[in-house]
Formats: sequence, C-alpha cells, structure tokens
Amino acid sequence: MKTIIEPFRIKSVEPIRMTDRAEREVALENAGWNLFALASRDVVIDLLTDSGTGAMSAEQWAAIMRGDESYAGAPSFERFEAAVRELTGFEQVIPTHQGRAAEHLLFPVLAKTGSVVPSNTHFDTTRANIELSGAKALDLPCAASHDPARIEPFKGDIDLAALERCLVENQGRVPLIMVTVTNNAGGGQPVSLANLRGVRALADRFRVPFFLDACRFAENAFLIQQREPGQRGHSIAAIARMMFDLADGCTMSAKKDGLANIGGFIACRDAALADELRTRLVVTEGFPTYGGLAGRDLDAIAQGLREVVEQDYQEYRHASIRYVVERLAARGVPVLQPAGGHAIFLDAAKFLPHVSWREYPGQALAIELYLAGGIRSCEIGTVMLGHVDATTGEETPAEHELVRLAVPRRTYTQSHMDYVIEVVEDVWHRRHTIGGVAIESQPRVLRHFRAKFARLPLAVAAKV
Ligand code: F0G
Repeated sequence: MKTIIEPFRIKSVEPIRMTDRAEREVALENAGWNLFALASRDVVIDLLTDSGTGAMSAEQWAAIMRGDESYAGAPSFERFEAAVRELTGFEQVIPTHQGRAAEHLLFPVLAKTGSVVPSNTHFDTTRANIELSGAKALDLPCAASHDPARIEPFKGDIDLAALERCLVENQGRVPLIMVTVTNNAGGGQPVSLANLRGVRALADRFRVPFFLDACRFAENAFLIQQREPGQRGHSIAAIARMMFDLADGCTMSAKKDGLANIGGFIACRDAALADELRTRLVVTEGFPTYGGLAGRDLDAIAQGLREVVEQDYQEYRHASIRYVVERLAARGVPVLQPAGGHAIFLDAAKFLPHVSWREYPGQALAIELYLAGGIRSCEIGTVMLGHVDATTGEETPAEHELVRLAVPRRTYTQSHMDYVIEVVEDVWHRRHTIGGVAIESQPRVLRHFRAKFARLPLAVAAKV
C-alpha cells in the first residue's frame, strides 16, 4: 500500500482548544507579539519545538512505573546505561537532566580561552556553553547548505576542506570537533557516513577528539539509510552504530530522539575524561547514577532509545514531514528542501520579499501563521541569530530568514498536518497584505525568547 499510516493507536488523548482569529489577536497582542509568551492553551497546533513535546508509548509509561528512585545504584540506571551502551558502544555513560547540561559539563573540561571548537553548525545552547568556557565556536557548514531551495541529500555535512584548514591554522588549540546530527540550525539536514568518516580521518591525523551532538541521531541514521549509496540494506540501529563508532563520544538531549519529555547524557570511551565529568556532575546535576533525573525518567529514556530506531516509526516520522514539504513546494510556497528530519522550514525572505530584514520577515510570518490558524512556530532568522553591536547598536542580519515548524514526535496525525498545509496556503495567498514588525524592547542575550514587538503598517512598496 502507498499510504504510510501512523504506526500506533491512540490510548490517551489531550483536547485541543479551538480558538478564532479575534481571540488569537488579543492573546498575541497581550504577549507582545512574541509566540514564546503565549499560553499553550491559546495554541491550536504547537510546532514551537520537537524537544520534550512528544508522546510516550505504553511501554514507556510501563517503564515509568518500574522506575526505582533510590539515590544511588538504582536498577533504573543499570537499564539506562545498558541501553546507551548497546546503542552507541560507548562504555562511559553519564546521565544529565537535558542536552545543554551535558554541554555545560563537557566544554569547561576540554576547552579554554583561546580554544576553537569547529562544527557543521553549533546549536545555540552549544555555542553559548562553548563561549562560556572562553573558547570560540566555529560553524563550517558545507557549501550546499547555503541555498535553501537546492536539493542535495546531505546538506548537513561539515565542510571538510574548511575543517582541515581550521586544524592546520589552530594546531594545539582545537580541543574537540563537534558534528551535529541532524544539523538542526541548518534545517534538520542529515550528515552522511562518508562525511563522518572524513571527520574521523582528520581527527586521527591531528589527534583531536571527535564528538557527536547526537540529539537526532536516529533521524540522521534513517536519512543515511534512504539516501546514501549502499545503506538500504542496513537497519537504523546498525547505521546509528556506524555513526557512533566513528566518534569518541557524544552529547545527547533525550528530549528529541530519546522519545522522552526530559533527560540527556554524555557518553564516551575515555575513562579519565568520564571521571572528571562525574566529579563535576556531582556538584551541579546529581550523583552519577541519576544525574539530575528521576529513576523513572532513566527508564523512559532506556525504552525510548530502543523504539526510536524502529523502521516503521522512522518511516512514519519522515513521511509526515515530507508530506507537508512536498505539498507546500508543489503550491509554490518557498520551503527549505529537501525535507529534513524534524521540521518544516519556510523561507520567509522569499515568502515576504516586500518585508526587509530590518522588519523581521520571519517574525511577521510566524505571527500571521498564528493569527490565521493558531499555529505556533519559531522564527530562525535575524531576531534569533542576527548580531547587534553592543556599542553602536548596529544590527547585522542572519544568513537566512526562516520560520521553523517543528513536529513533535507521535503527537499529531495526518489531518493535523493537512490543516497546517491549509493555513500556510491561506497565508501564502494573502502574503502581499502582510507587513513587518519592529522590536519594542529586548533583553541583552537570547533576545528572541523575551523581546516585545510592534506590528508595522504595510510598506508603500508592497501596496503598489
Ligand atoms: N543540540 C541540539 C542540536 C539541539 O537541537 C538542542 C535543543 C540542544 C542541543 C540542547 O538540548 O534542549 O535538551 O538542552 N534544541 C531544542 C530545539 C530546544 O527546539 O531545537 P536541550
């Protein structure tokens, strides 16, 4: 059969509160036109993030009941450790309360002022934690990643030539290489095994450890299976293992491909490094057998890590994203191609060409998607990634003006996705009537979370 169905039945439901445009106008105005400030009950379809927002399986809820809450040596930790070892092959397993806690433990141990940490693209918390340790976070995405419309199988790859140059120019100053799978900030695009092998070769040549930011490792492994020559015959778990075998360790947010609502870990081969990390862990996260999590969370993650590599689950997961991307592209809507692992990205610069980057087209589009259909998305453009000079106040735009519609795992059905397509299409037809926004107030760092906006009248140029 051609139809790929959701490979689950629904046992427990959460009602969605329907709202109308007038109600949403009031809610968003009260939120300073910032979608992060909305109450979730005012949202119809919440695509703000795929992190911690997924539905757990019956087996995960059963595992929750098996959770042992002993302070030390709980069997929940043994099951968690066994699941991570089985998946990654990394002997040392250190639980943390989420991904950024793993980053916060790792970077101060390896990096210092003057260090350079290259990556395909660092996620914003990774970048912030690297910079907190005094080091420089360097993004080296491959050339294909710069064009949102270009269809290439592995737009998440790191630029190996640029990585080599970085290692030559910074001998002794690169404490580790990171590769984010899939590349979230670059559109959820996968990294190929061939590229990971190239990184391994450079890591060996320059004697530098190589870590994966593994949040979406299973989505990356599925896309390798589907797109990389010679990989069709391998299971997702086998491909994931090939990815981990090429690395020395990983940081992980279990809120994504752990299929859990909270949790994370660091795993690695180096026992001395793990010992140092555990020393730090006790101070900020907790004892090494729970690391900031309840025993029941460890059990939910152990089970989630086994379910996430199931073929039927990944087929459905990617079908639901591809379904939206292909339908929008067929209607001429500018959407990042090809479909990535966890989200649909709209190209707001092309969607609203009459809105200059100074009037934040991504934010303007995100606002309109909410008003039109109650869809909460996330601007990934100049509001989030633009640079504001601390002394002059002069602003530099981000490379792209994107709006991310991140799809929570196992949470929405095909009719929800049909609704999303209909809302985007409705806004697309009215795009000429949509004006930009101005920032009224903003915090010093990570402004997108708490900035307040004002809506601007439509520019004269757009009206003619
Ligand atoms: N690395 C990547 C690639 C991520 O996407 C995230 C989180 C983290 C690290 C940090 O993990 O949230 O558990 O502390 N991304 C979420 C998102 C927040 O919406 O993309 P965390």
